[in-house]
Amino acid sequence: MNKKLSSVIVMVVGLLLVFAAAGLYAGTEVKEVIEMKNKAYAKHKKGIVMFTHEKHQDEYAKKHPELYEKGCGECHHDKDNKPLTELKEGDAVENCIECHKKLGEMPKAEKKKMKKEKVPKAEVKSKKLEFHGEALHYNCRGCHKLYNKKIKKMDPKPEKAPTTCKKCHPKVKKK
Ligand code: HEC
Ligand code: HEC
Ligand code: HEC
Ligand code: HEC
Repeated sequence: MNKKLSSVIVMVVGLLLVFAAAGLYAGTEVKEVIEMKNKAYAKHKKGIVMFTHEKHQDEYAKKHPELYEKGCGECHHDKDNKPLTELKEGDAVENCIECHKKLGEMPKAEKKKMKKEKVPKAEVKSKKLEFHGEALHYNCRGCHKLYNKKIKKMDPKPEKAPTTCKKCHPKVKKK
């Protein structure tokens, strides 16, 4: 094949790929980055988390398959906490707050009270999970802790999966 013809073919194939990708994206409803600013809150106490949904469900899942055994179901589940492993782009997804209804984190006094009364661990977790903030923290930080523990064993690099407040909630300017 002469050089000119093969470069034309490469260009056409390239263009087709671009269009195919555009078509794929047009079919989805999920934003690449989700602004975690749930409307149920009149005001957020902490800075708004920008959650890189696409990176998490795609790039990180491919890079770290051991953290993503349940696929989408690592984060999405049904009313019985059954992982939605078969979830696909474009499927309707319930917001976490539909089920984890109480706003924010569990009040400290309530946590203390349970500790004093020696409430069993599983029950404490279940009570905490009623809170939206706690459910998100269990999910996000839970996986990040696992990841960092594993990574640090192999290579003590600075953490990439944040576990501290301000790495997820950017500082809000005081007025
Ligand atoms: C690392 C956790 C995580 C993974 C993995 C994940 N998601 Fe999500 N997804 C979320 C969170 C958090 C939200 C925001 C929910 C909310 O605001 O209540 C969300 C929202 C969505 C939404 C709704 C978007 C909107 O704007 O309302 C869809 C649709 C969705 N995800 C599909 C998927 C699919 C399909 C997969 C697998 C290919 C997947 N997700 C994997 C965490 C995840
Ligand atoms: C349709 C209802 C429903 C939706 C929507 C929902 N959850 Fe849950 N979730 C549950 C139930 C029920 C449990 C079990 C609670 C218990 O153990 O007391 C649960 C448990 C959890 C747990 C603990 C998991 C475990 O097994 O240790 C986390 C973390 C969690 N949810 C986070 C989320 C996040 C993040 C979202 C949104 C992406 C979400 N949930 C959406 C109903 C829901
Ligand atoms: C199933 C595992 C898993 C869950 C669940 C998860 N993450 Fe992550 N996250 C990762 C991994 C792995 C990295 C580091 C990826 C890398 O650098 O290779 C990361 C990195 C990040 C980063 C830094 C890089 C970036 O993409 O911005 C932020 C911020 C972050 N996660 C926020 C969140 C939030 C918010 C949630 C919950 C809504 C969440 N993550 C849930 C696995 C997870
Ligand atoms: C891995 C990321 C991550 C880390 C680390 C994290 N959070 Fe969150 N947090 C979230 C996400 C996501 C939400 C859900 C916000 C929404 O959807 O509106 C949330 C919600 C909250 C809320 C309820 C919403 C609000 O702003 O009033 C509070 C309070 C909160 N977090 C406090 C903290 C504190 C304090 C720390 C540190 C001890 C912390 N968070 C660490 C991701 C994180």
